[in-house]
Amino acid sequence: MTDQAPAPFTGKSRVLSGVQPSGDLHLGNYLGALVKFARLQNEMETFIFVADLHAITAWQDPAKLKNQVREIAAAYLATGLDPRVATIFAQSAVPAHAELAWVFNCVARLGWLDRMTQFKDKAGKHKERESVGLYTYPVLQAADILIYKATHVPVGEDQRQHLELTRDIAAKFNHDFDTPGFFPLPEALTQGPGARIMSLRDGSVKMSKSDPSDNSRINLTDDADTMSQKIRKARTDAEVLPEKLEDLAGRPEAQNLIGIYAALAGRQAQDVLTEFAGHGFGVFKPKLADLVVSVMGPIGGDMRRMLADPAEIDRILSAGAERAREVAAPNLAEVKRIVGYWAS
Ligand code: TRP
Repeated sequence: MTDQAPAPFTGKSRVLSGVQPSGDLHLGNYLGALVKFARLQNEMETFIFVADLHAITAWQDPAKLKNQVREIAAAYLATGLDPRVATIFAQSAVPAHAELAWVFNCVARLGWLDRMTQFKDKAGKHKERESVGLYTYPVLQAADILIYKATHVPVGEDQRQHLELTRDIAAKFNHDFDTPGFFPLPEALTQGPGARIMSLRDGSVKMSKSDPSDNSRINLTDDADTMSQKIRKARTDAEVLPEKLEDLAGRPEAQNLIGIYAALAGRQAQDVLTEFAGHGFGVFKPKLADLVVSVMGPIGGDMRRMLADPAEIDRILSAGAERAREVAAPNLAEVKRIVGYWAS
């Protein structure tokens, strides 16, 4: 960081995204979300928060939650989000999210929520035992976005449906209250080289913090040896790497490792393949392990350093929350006036 504060971006486009503080961040989160956040902050006004309201839709140990929030904040900072440019905060510090979510609970229809595949996946066969919060989770997500009238939302492919719901809620609010254009219809930004990072144990499922095997993912906080080991142990096939990308079809593990290499190196997958064509994984994996360690290692180191004395993180989160509350307040006041509440 330099001492000279970059000028904050001002304009009509606004980026918003968040990550839940419910488990270790991994390579998939890094490439699929964090890298994008850091890049977008230079293009548009950016709000990035830690979704601690959402986190308790699944049980969280109250003694740990605050530190989990700090860990996500540390990851944001370690991957290049600059608190002088982007607004970084904890969701629970901005009550307007929850207030707008209530209004949206009365805009969204049960039929819309019944279609949410993430709820179906998480609830499984026993939806009657799930919290009501898990069901209405995407409504809160819509409020997170629209309380700032955000226009662009960088998220993983799995969040596309929640973004469509957000647009439906915005459109229905604008229509029902006869306030055309009051809420923008935000756009999901799901593209990018890291859009789909798969498990190291099974190339057909996404790398995930809920996978019981820790070897399935590279965590941001893994030390260098652990990262290398996980790459060396990654499942592969016995064939050599082909010359053409098309010839990786049907080899999901090989495809994934090439994709990871390309994303981390900022190169095209075809270009990486050309370099390693004709070689087996015995040659490729050590190179990939070195690359992973050289990119991810310093991030974990920075996170550990920041978390050792969280006062600075707390200061950044407090300042971010203050700024977020300032931006949210007039929007919430307008909503209350539009709905006709006594208190606005
Ligand atoms: N549901 C998102 C996820 O699991 C996290 C999230 C909550 C979010 N609110 C948001 C993402 C608002 C983008 C915008 O990844």
